[in-house]
Amino acid sequence: MGMINVNKLTKDYGHGRGIYDVTFEVGKGETLGFLGPNGAGKSTTIRHLMGFSKPQSGNADINGMDCRKMHSEILRNVGYLPGEVAMPDGLNGQQFIRMMKEMRCCGKNDRSAELMERFQLDPCADIKRMSIGEKRKLAVVTAFMSDPEILLLDEPTSGLDPLMQEVFIDFIRDEKSKGKTILLSSHIFSEVEALCDRIAIIKDGKLISTVDAAEVKHGLKNEFTVAFRTASDFDRFMASGIATEWSDRRSGKCTVCVPDEDTNSFLKALSGCRIKSLDEHSVSLEEYFMHFYKSSKKFAVGGVSYA
Ligand SMILES: Nc1ncnc2c1ncn2[C@@H]1O[C@H](COP(=O)(O)OP(=O)(O)OP(=O)(O)O)[C@@H](O)[C@H]1O
Ligand SMILES: [Mg+2]
Repeated sequence: MGMINVNKLTKDYGHGRGIYDVTFEVGKGETLGFLGPNGAGKSTTIRHLMGFSKPQSGNADINGMDCRKMHSEILRNVGYLPGEVAMPDGLNGQQFIRMMKEMRCCGKNDRSAELMERFQLDPCADIKRMSIGEKRKLAVVTAFMSDPEILLLDEPTSGLDPLMQEVFIDFIRDEKSKGKTILLSSHIFSEVEALCDRIAIIKDGKLISTVDAAEVKHGLKNEFTVAFRTASDFDRFMASGIATEWSDRRSGKCTVCVPDEDTNSFLKALSGCRIKSLDEHSVSLEEYFMHFYKSSKKFAVGGVSYA
């Protein structure tokens, strides 16, 4: 049993829109990245976890609380950052924070002052005059001020400037180190790479696969382009048995894909040759997942299969 359990959750909005049989879990202390193209079903799933929507079938629970039946406990105990922040226009930041404190029963766990400083939020401004980023920061402060153990973050850094995105990622790293359980939907691969232990991929409302982040990173290939000093250096390398993706004797160049486990033999083969230049091009998590975004085909993890 995970800390967060989603079990065959289905909400069909018609015309192929919605989520279908979505099943996954997030273990205690784990950060699960939730990736998928626009309209894939990430926010719908997260809203069900918050108990805001009633599923047609299936269920979800958080820390043993049924998300639908114990909606108010979920609201009090889970740090939720919605994809789209909607706030009452008639209040200023401080009034909104006070209102949320009463709802969340912060008590002695009140971290609002620390969070306002960390995210450089001026709480005195009227909400209706706040920029999107400022509203976002206000949402961050209210979501985390009661120090919740479980965080549901729906595209948490959208609307934040690059410096604030960094502040946010550092903040989530700290939360992780305290053993918090986190579900994070995102389109930002660097964020996913920096924070997530596992990644669940959703497309067209269906969970396609769940992969281990370290395994994906390990399976990514490193590509090197080598320019040799002379034709004989080129020939020596080609005779070493290292497979090349591309080679051209005339220019004395070749391109080699090196899985992590073959790095030593690649370096050994190179050490016998004189080299003009060596350029590395690592396949990033972004390129890896772009493949998924573009095609609906499944792809291998670890062995890295690209269409
Ligand atoms: N209340 C609703 N009524 C009808 N259709 C809905 C409703 N909410 C979501 N949908 C549809 O369900 C699908 C999933 O939407 P959802 O907002 O969960 O996607 P998402 O993965 O969060 O996308 P994005 O990356 O754009 O935020 C979309 O096709 C959307 O149009
Ligand atoms: Mg969304």
